[in-house]
Order: sequence, then structure tokens, then C-alpha cells
Amino acid sequence: MPNLGVLISGRGSNMTSIHQRIQSNELNATIAVVISNKASATGLAYARDQGIPVQVFEPSEFETNDDYESALVACLVAHKVDLVVLAGYMKLVGDPMLTAFAGRMVNIHPSLLPSFKGLNAQQQALDYGVKVSGCTAHYVVKEMDAGPIIMQAAVAVQDDDTVESLSDRILFQEHQIYFLAIQIALTHLD
Ligand code: GRF
Repeated sequence: MPNLGVLISGRGSNMTSIHQRIQSNELNATIAVVISNKASATGLAYARDQGIPVQVFEPSEFETNDDYESALVACLVAHKVDLVVLAGYMKLVGDPMLTAFAGRMVNIHPSLLPSFKGLNAQQQALDYGVKVSGCTAHYVVKEMDAGPIIMQAAVAVQDDDTVESLSDRILFQEHQIYFLAIQIALTHLD
């Protein structure tokens, strides 16, 4: 059974959704560890309740970002992680992680990439006035939100959408596609 290492920074709804897809046998994998860069991440409570190993590494506890990331890599290797799953991990990934998990790290972003990279993608979509947005599951490379696309889902933007209403409908689609994209990434591991 392949091992996932899930990185979060916040509420962890994608992590929760992935765990539930595993429990309902829709995804053939194990969450070996959940790692957060914030002790305050509310998603950690779900992981702890479910008995998933949890680790918190606060970047401020380390002298350099490379030291921080090397600790992440050591933790992921210790848990025999095959695929790193970024799930609302609000920190740019650097060289130690990119080298250790080249081709073995995926992310989900709340827009149809390559449109609206970076923060507040749903607000960017509203500001631009697009009529269709969505979400993208992709491999992680050095450039932010730029790796090869695994799967996308489209969401119609409605005239009366707020950032909250659009974000909710995009998040629903994230939960529909991320586990499928993870399954695809797992089948392509050598
Ligand atoms: C999601 O919208 C995801 O696309 C983005 O950050 C958000 C994380 O939400 N990368 P959650 O923590 O999984 O609920």
C-alpha cells in the first residue's frame, strides 16, 4: 500500500476528504503522516482524532529554510512516504523537498491553471471577470503553481458570486478530483 505524506497549514478539508476516500476504498493508499508548518492548523485535530501520526515543524524553530525543509524530508522518509500531497500548505517548497521528492509531490490550486497563480486565486478570478474557473491538481516544481497538470475541474462563475460562494463551489470540486489525481500520480511512480 503506498504511503502519503500530507502537508497542511490550515483547516485541512482536502486532507480530511482524502482520508475519507481512503476509508471508503475509493483511494488505495495510507496517510502515513500529516505535517503542518503551523501548530494552530485546525486540520490537525481531525488527523489526531483519526490516529494519523501528526508532526508540527514551525519554520521559526530552524536557523534556515533549508534546515526546516531537511527536517520535513527526514520525517517523510522516516514514515516511508511515497508521494507528498500538499493540501493547503501555504509555504513555497524549496530545494531540499524538491530534490528528495522530484516527481513525487502534488498540489491542488483553486483556479484553472495557468490562470490565477498564487494567493487569493478565487478573488483574482472574480476581479478578472472570467465566467469559468475551477481547480487544478498538478505536480510540484520549483516555479509556483506551474508543474505538469494531472487533473482539472471547471466551475461556472455566477453573476452574484462572492469570494466565499465561489470558493465553496471550487472546494467541493477539489474534493471530487484530488483523490483521483493522487491515484493517477501513484500509478506513475516508478
Ligand atoms: C484550497 O482551496 C486549496 O486549493 C488551496 O488551499 C485551500 C486549502 O483548503 N491550496 P483546505 O485546508 O484543504 O481546507
